[in-house]
Amino acid sequence: MAVQISPSILSADFSRLAEEASAAAGADWLHVDVMDNHFVPNLTLGVPVVESLSRATSTPLDLHLMIEDPDRWAPQYVEAGADSVTFHVEAAAAPVRLAREIRAKNARASMALKPATPIEPYEDLLPELDMLLIMTVEPGFGGQAFLDIMLPKIRRTRELIGRHGLELWLQVDGGVSAATIERCAEAGADVFVAGSAVYGAEDPAVAVRALREQAEK
Ligand code: DX5
Ligand code: ZN
Repeated sequence: MAVQISPSILSADFSRLAEEASAAAGADWLHVDVMDNHFVPNLTLGVPVVESLSRATSTPLDLHLMIEDPDRWAPQYVEAGADSVTFHVEAAAAPVRLAREIRAKNARASMALKPATPIEPYEDLLPELDMLLIMTVEPGFGGQAFLDIMLPKIRRTRELIGRHGLELWLQVDGGVSAATIERCAEAGADVFVAGSAVYGAEDPAVAVRALREQAEK
């Protein structure tokens, strides 16, 4: 699968989201971090902002829900214009039902694992998903250091996906930069979220291109 880059607007200027979306020209997705101050100790944005953003950009929206009760909220984010919705398995009451509901509404269904959550207990869920997100930092904040100890988990997950003969995308999120993206790609990730590495750069579009080149090496 080709490398895909998903810049996280968590590191963008929230008062100029539409312009920030176009500044990351060449990105495959725009990663939108929804935080509720319960699942993670931080608060960002909700359904109305996603609705406006989806009207303001043609880049597909990659929603990352770091919230309690995703079973209730995820479908509303699809209706608000999300093209892909990631819920955390630690928060979902009925992950299979939720993934099916997201897919039935014509969005890609994705499930995220916090660093301490293993993949093995969820092997049977893989066919229900379009993407799996392996967090490479504790969710909640941008700009944290990449957790190298997640690399074996990425590798094992890629093997599991292969063993099941699935076409699942494998996303990494947290501390992904020009310095760490090659290791992630080598371990089997193919969708890369980058916040500070894109929006902390002088030209976000140049940063997107550089990340893609590093990952394709
Ligand atoms: C963190 C968020 C990330 C965050 C990544 O909980 O899920 O998407 O924006 O930021 P960087 O790339 O700066 O680590
Ligand atoms: Zn994220």
